[in-house]
Amino acid sequence: MPEFVAGLPKAELHLHIEGSLTPARAYAIAKRNGLDLDAFDPEKGAAARREFTSLVPFLIEYGKCSGVMRKEADFYDMMYDYLERAAENGVVHAEIFFDPQTHCYTDILEFKTVITGLTKALEEGRKTLGVDGKLILCFLRDRSVEEALQVLEDARPYMEVKSPVYTPDLLGVGMDNAELGFRPGRFKPAYDKARHAREAGLHCVAHAGEEGDASYITEALDDLKIERVDHGVRCLEDPAVVERLVKAQTPLTVCPCSNHRLQVYPRFFCGENAVRQLLSRGVKVTVNSDDPAYFFMGNVSAAGRACDASAYDGFLASNYVRTLALNSFDASFISEDDKKAHK
Ligand code: ADE
Ligand code: ZN
Repeated sequence: MPEFVAGLPKAELHLHIEGSLTPARAYAIAKRNGLDLDAFDPEKGAAARREFTSLVPFLIEYGKCSGVMRKEADFYDMMYDYLERAAENGVVHAEIFFDPQTHCYTDILEFKTVITGLTKALEEGRKTLGVDGKLILCFLRDRSVEEALQVLEDARPYMEVKSPVYTPDLLGVGMDNAELGFRPGRFKPAYDKARHAREAGLHCVAHAGEEGDASYITEALDDLKIERVDHGVRCLEDPAVVERLVKAQTPLTVCPCSNHRLQVYPRFFCGENAVRQLLSRGVKVTVNSDDPAYFFMGNVSAAGRACDASAYDGFLASNYVRTLALNSFDASFISEDDKKAHK
């Protein structure tokens, strides 16, 4: 099964580049930046990633490790590492989240350093590895809307076709970080601005329904007009929300290993194996890694294995992973012609 799944071309639609930073790479970057090495000892780092009770303790560790970044080369190396892992796993197209507010707005780093390092690695990854990577800029939902608007302002030169630093790689905006209590509707001004930012407009997605209940999903769809829901598994607690997602065929980017490691399933009522439940209800589900250096990379393979134990709902494991791979392109922001080519 793992070889079959790795050989299947697929798109990754929910991947935080900061969550792909391994303890070994964090240590190497800390060393070249002259930081306190004890704080980034790889063995301690790996141990700290072994157990999380929920999203926030994970985000604290994630924030600490992301704090090693200083230079363009750091962002280049982090991205190129991920693209190599993606190529090994049969990922041919990736829409990759990055969190400018995790790195900038503290006088340590400029937006330019972040985006230049990331886009240079994407260019090399396309040439050398055959992985087509694009970027989705995420707002931190537990920070102010004013700061989110400032991030968009900083990103503006990179989205203007006539600008000397224009990049076609900046594809959309998203929203991540601690969800409970940080409702999506607050960010309506930032999403309204983003939708008209690039000439072709930025695509809009948001994390909703990971730890927040199904009403966070409804609010993100209504107020932010998102095209895709990141996680969204708690829709299973409200049949009306599931029906809405099915009717509009709004894709969900589910991350089963992340949900498992952050204990989403036992703490809420959406039940085990959300992917299987959602597929059988007709939701357009995709399966993704979220933060592979903290959780696991081969999520499609893991979902297939979970299914393999007994053939659920008439899906054989191989059909199941084929459906997930096809959905990953269908739910992506590639052109309709490119989608047809992957059918
Ligand atoms: N940032 C990185 N991983 C995340 C997740 N699973 N939920 C919200 N924000 C995140
Ligand atoms: Zn995520």
